[in-house]
This record gives sequence, structure tokens and C-alpha cells, in this order.
Amino acid sequence: MVKICCIGAGYVGGPTMAVIALKCPDIEVAVVDISVPRITAWNSDTLPIYEPGLDEVVKQCRGKNLFFSTDVEKHVFEADIVFVSVNTPTKTRGLGAGKAADLTYWESAARMIADVSKSDKIVVEKSTVPVKTAEAIEKILTHNSKGINYQILSNPEFLAEGTAIKDLFNPDRVLIGGRETPEGNKAVQALKDVYAHWVPEDRILTTNLWSAELSKLAANAFLAQRISSVNAMSALCEATGADVSQVAYAVGTDSRIGPKFLNASVGFGGSCFQKDILNLVYICECNGLPEVAEYWKQVIKINDYQKNRFVNRLVSSMFNTVANKKIAILGFAFKKDTGDTRETPAIDVCKGLLGDKAQLSIYDPQVTDEQIQRDLSMNKFDWDHPLHLQPMSPTTVKKVQSVWDAYEATKDAHAVCILTEWDEFKKLDFKRIYDNMQKPAFVFDGRNVVDAEKLREIGFIVYSIGKPLDAWLKDMPAVA
Ligand code: NAI
Repeated sequence: MVKICCIGAGYVGGPTMAVIALKCPDIEVAVVDISVPRITAWNSDTLPIYEPGLDEVVKQCRGKNLFFSTDVEKHVFEADIVFVSVNTPTKTRGLGAGKAADLTYWESAARMIADVSKSDKIVVEKSTVPVKTAEAIEKILTHNSKGINYQILSNPEFLAEGTAIKDLFNPDRVLIGGRETPEGNKAVQALKDVYAHWVPEDRILTTNLWSAELSKLAANAFLAQRISSVNAMSALCEATGADVSQVAYAVGTDSRIGPKFLNASVGFGGSCFQKDILNLVYICECNGLPEVAEYWKQVIKINDYQKNRFVNRLVSSMFNTVANKKIAILGFAFKKDTGDTRETPAIDVCKGLLGDKAQLSIYDPQVTDEQIQRDLSMNKFDWDHPLHLQPMSPTTVKKVQSVWDAYEATKDAHAVCILTEWDEFKKLDFKRIYDNMQKPAFVFDGRNVVDAEKLREIGFIVYSIGKPLDAWLKDMPAVA
């Protein structure tokens, strides 16, 4: 029986390995992590991450051919194939701080593999890493190799949170990069054989190592660029009276462009887009390509601009101050169907409003109060460095309240701010919400989920990203 071990039981390691275990009953899969609470949760009825369909997959294989453990060394020692799916955050200090990938976690995993291995192994980069990382990993492994043969493969993960199980069951493609040597080809084939249990052969792409590593950064940069492009258009739509949904539809029907990923919003979030683009920018700079670096940097600048623009619009519409006004925040996760708040635009929007002394009442169906308080107390980039967690500031705690119901959040509020596109927000009784709010009552829809016209009929003043402004908002132009 082939044995797989995956180091890192996070958003990628957990679901990916659960699906491999489900689809390959002849393979034993162990997912290991240094975090005791995370592994305890994976072994309990309440999994550490929320992902539609994940519970069922885990329940079917856990204890049969899928195991979660903190005994990292034992499982690495026994494995034929070791996936490394640890976090690769942005460096917060030292050379490349604020841009480069921090490979501390990766390096320590590689050193541990070198220490405990007694048999040949295929080591698979599952984490998103800078191009040429495999070379560094190879050096760590072979310098300590004791005659062991290691083959390094790059197998970046393209799943999207919220649809991870669907994406893993039916991937657009699986990408495997390896050394172009007989041993490298053999290792690529071994990993292909795993995916071939359920992925059609023509969707398993093989490339050299550097192409596979770079493709992941490139794919995320292209995706984020689409969002920044439509968001840039949304600002122009508001200024000219065009409607961004109509523009996006007209643009997206061109088959060369396509309709997906063209929704204007308050901005993109999630653990990957910003970090991977910053990493790409850093790699360009290190390779003497400042113009290319500058080009990709704009994607992040527009994203920051969009979040600021949203806050400025909100404050300026409400007589230029939100001091001591209750603002209801509906949605805190970076997108629907996940409880993940890493780099969520809600953090910047809430911090912006708190900076103007607002009182926030936050409701998200999947995010706990503790998580929200922690997110709002942390410095940029610290979220992925657990050791640098800071104590919560007493002012934040006082000004932010989270509740478990949208109606409670909006009671007596001056404004409602929609920051995540949860389906349930479309079905809210806005008449009931309006009746219980302060007047004038505002809705700032950062995801274009509500029917603005219906809300205006109720009496709300409504701002929808990239849509024609109503008279009130026109009279109070936001300064970006
Ligand atoms: P995560 O933070 O949820 O999980 C990483 C896990 O690795 C943590 O539980 C941590 O305790 C563990 N870990 C760190 N060092 C370790 C060590 N030395 N030994 C054992 N465990 C260790 O991160 P996530 O979201 O799963 O991301 C992992 C990688 O996958 C990152 O490089 C990310 O960029 C990439 N990725 C993430 C996607 C996502 O949607 N979250 C999608 C595609 C790629």
C-alpha cells in the first residue's frame, strides 16, 4: 500500500488529502500538523474549517485510510510521498519584508524530513512558493541525505475556498512539475497515478519544476487582476452613470474574455491573492524587472483604493461623520461559504470606520466573535504568523460587538454595510430592518447582493458598487 503523509492540516492540506483518501481506497493518507487544537478538531465532529461537503468526505474515510495526527515524524518516516502544505506567509521583517514569502515553516518541514527519513521519498510542494523554491529544498534534503534519493515535485493547489470539495472532485487541471530526468519522470508518473484514480488524464498537466511553481503565482495574479480591473471600472461607472453589472456583462460575452470573475465588489480578500502577488512583485524585482513588478503592484493598489473608496463613500454620505453611530456589518468572511477571514476586506472597512469612531455591530453566519476581535486587533500580515499575535486593544473591544442575527445587528443602526455575499442576506426582510433603524437609513452594499430599487421604495438610501448613484449620494461626493 502506498503511504502518503501531508505536513500541514490547513485549508489546503485537510480537504485535499480527504479527497485523495476518498478517491484512492488503496492509499493510506496521514495528515499531520504541529497544532494540537487543529488535529483534535479534525478528529472531532466539528472540523476546524467550514467547507460545503467536507464533513461527509471526512466521515467516510477517517479511521479507514485517512488519519489526522500530531506525530509528524512517525508519519513522515513511513511515507512514500510527502506533501508539504504549510503556510507560506508574507515576511513581516528583514530582507523583503512586506513582499517576499516567508519560508520559515517550509524550511523547518524540509529539515525535519531530512532528519527522520530512512527510505527514498517523493517530496511534493503543495504550498504556494516562490519560483525556484524546489532548488532550495533539494539542497536542504540532499545535504543531509544519508544516501537517500529525494525527488521534489511541484503540485500547486488551485482549489477555491467555499467550493474546495467541488473543485477537488472535478478540477479544471492538476499541475505536476518535476525534474526532466529519468528519476524525475518516474516521480511525476507516481503522482499522476494518484490523481488518475479520478481525474481524466488530459486534465493532468506536466511541466518542468519552475513552470509549475510560477504557474500558481501567475494564475492568482491573473484572477486578482480581473477583480481589480472590474473594480477600477466600477469607480468610473459611478462617476459617469454607467452600471458596472451591465458593463461587465457586455464585456464578458466576448468569448475571448469570458463571463466569470467579473463581479465588482468592495475588494478581494483571502489568504492568497495579495500574498502571492506581493511575492511575484518581489521575484520580478530580484530578477531586475522593475517594470513588470510595477505592473502587478497596481492590482493591489486598486484593491486598497476600492476598500478606501467604500469607507469614504459611507462616511461622506452620512454627513461626513460616523462618530458614535451604530453601523451594522453584515458578513465578515472574505467570501460566502467559508469562515475564513484572512485578508478579508471587512477588516480594512471596519478599521476605517473605527478610525472614524463608529460603533460596529457585526453578524456573519460562520465567523466567531473571538475571531473578529482578533482580526481587528492585528497588524497587517500578522495573521499568518501565530507567534506574533497581539493582545486585543481595549478600544476595539468596546466599539465592536458581534451578534448571531442580522436583525439584531441592524436594530437601531444608522447604516447597514454588506461585506460578504452570503445567500441569506438576499432573503432578509428589509422592511422589518428599515422599521427598526435610525433615519435616514442607509444601505452600503459592497457585494451588490440586494435589489437597490426595492430598498429605495422602502425608504433606504442605497449605495451599490459601480451603480448609478441616487440623488443623496450625488450631493455628497466621496473623496477617494
Ligand atoms: P493554513 O495556515 O490553513 O495551514 C497550514 C498548516 O501548516 C497550519 O495548520 C500549521 O500549523 C501547519 N504547519 C506549519 N509549519 C508546520 C510544520 N513544520 N510541521 C507541521 N505542520 C506545520 O494554510 P493553507 O490555507 O492551508 O495554505 C497552505 C499553503 O497552500 C499556502 O502556501 C497557501 O498559499 C497555499 N494555498 C492556499 C489556498 C487556500 O485557499 N487557502 C489555495 C491554494 C494554495
